Amino acid sequence: MSYEPGAAVAEGSIPLCVPELRGNEWRYVKECLDSGWVSSVGPFVEQLEKEVATYVGAAHGVAMSTGTAALHVALLAAGVKPDDEVLVSDLTFIAPANAIRYANAWPVLCDAEPAHWQMNAARVVDFIENECTWRNGKLVNKQSERRVSAILPVHILGHPVDLDPIIEVANKYELAIVEDATESLGSEYRGRKVGNLGHVGCFSFNGNKIITTGGGGMLVTNNPALAAKAKYLSTQAKDDPIEYVHKETGFNYRLSNVQAALGCAQMELLPEFVEIKRNIAAAYRDAFADLPGVTMMPEASWARSIYWLNTVLIDEAEYGEDSRSLMKRLAHRGIQARPLWQPLHRSEALAGMQSLGGEVADDINRRALSLPSSVGMTSDQIREVIAAVCEPGRVTR
Ligand SMILES: Cc1ncc(COP(=O)(O)O)c(C=O)c1O
Repeated sequence: MSYEPGAAVAEGSIPLCVPELRGNEWRYVKECLDSGWVSSVGPFVEQLEKEVATYVGAAHGVAMSTGTAALHVALLAAGVKPDDEVLVSDLTFIAPANAIRYANAWPVLCDAEPAHWQMNAARVVDFIENECTWRNGKLVNKQSERRVSAILPVHILGHPVDLDPIIEVANKYELAIVEDATESLGSEYRGRKVGNLGHVGCFSFNGNKIITTGGGGMLVTNNPALAAKAKYLSTQAKDDPIEYVHKETGFNYRLSNVQAALGCAQMELLPEFVEIKRNIAAAYRDAFADLPGVTMMPEASWARSIYWLNTVLIDEAEYGEDSRSLMKRLAHRGIQARPLWQPLHRSEALAGMQSLGGEVADDINRRALSLPSSVGMTSDQIREVIAAVCEPGRVTR
């Protein structure tokens, strides 16, 4: 079985997470084709920017071709300079660390905390307070002697990072907070939508995300200067668009009107999708509550998760099978499950980067398995996944 984001699903199988196009997608895309507005300017681009910004309570949205592009531009617009360091989650898909490298800055990898699997806020504060020093108006990492200019917390799997301690220390040392909310559009931290809690936040509309434009992303911010800079950088840094004058290196990172049309249709469905995702999570949680060795991903008391990918931790001794063996058994039944990402401190692509711990990320990575979580899953499909996970035949206590 091979499943790529947005790929057609093999008959009879249950994919990990595929798009749900059940609204005005056809209608809005047809409007683009009928009107000829198919490129990177057009009414749907602006509409999507307004809708996403409004949904998360931000003043500005800047649409981008991918979530990774949004992160790259967000870092530059937030003032990250070459050779700076940026604290980033260790347990995440690699895109945010890549974006830091595109900005010619260096990631410092911060371990996860065991309770909710997110960036360990206490470890971030400890690093900044004890392993850095304030010198000539800059925060400097004592080990590398480089300036630390930003923190990039990644809200993984639809659940927020505990941001308050991170915001407090960032304010104290004038650090930018660039939220990677690509997996968590709609999720809430203490009653506020993630992505609009720091200086700038980024979303992805890739095929496997809660809403999709096929491929795409967006940056949101309350800072008008930052939004203007992001738009400038993502449209080839045109200082005079008629005479083609450029003072900086820009990027061709804008979303097309056709993609934005899909996004506008999907935004109409987002509140409903969040509730559906939460219902799928509740079904899994109930079913696995008494199953030895299977623990559903947590939700903090201060969080409202969108459960982007429902993920379980497998205790091999109790369950009788490890996470990878369960993955293969599910695959035989046509059910796609997937481990989490290799922790970034283990990635050859990031060899030599400083890491703050990493043991928790390693442990979660070894035991975690994400289960099918598509918005369009039927009750029968949810029951089938549950039955397969609960299936007798493995060694039980
Ligand atoms: C945590 C995280 N950051 C960034 C991205 C990048 O988004 P995109 O694929 O739209 O570039 C993704 C997923 O794709 C992600 O999971």
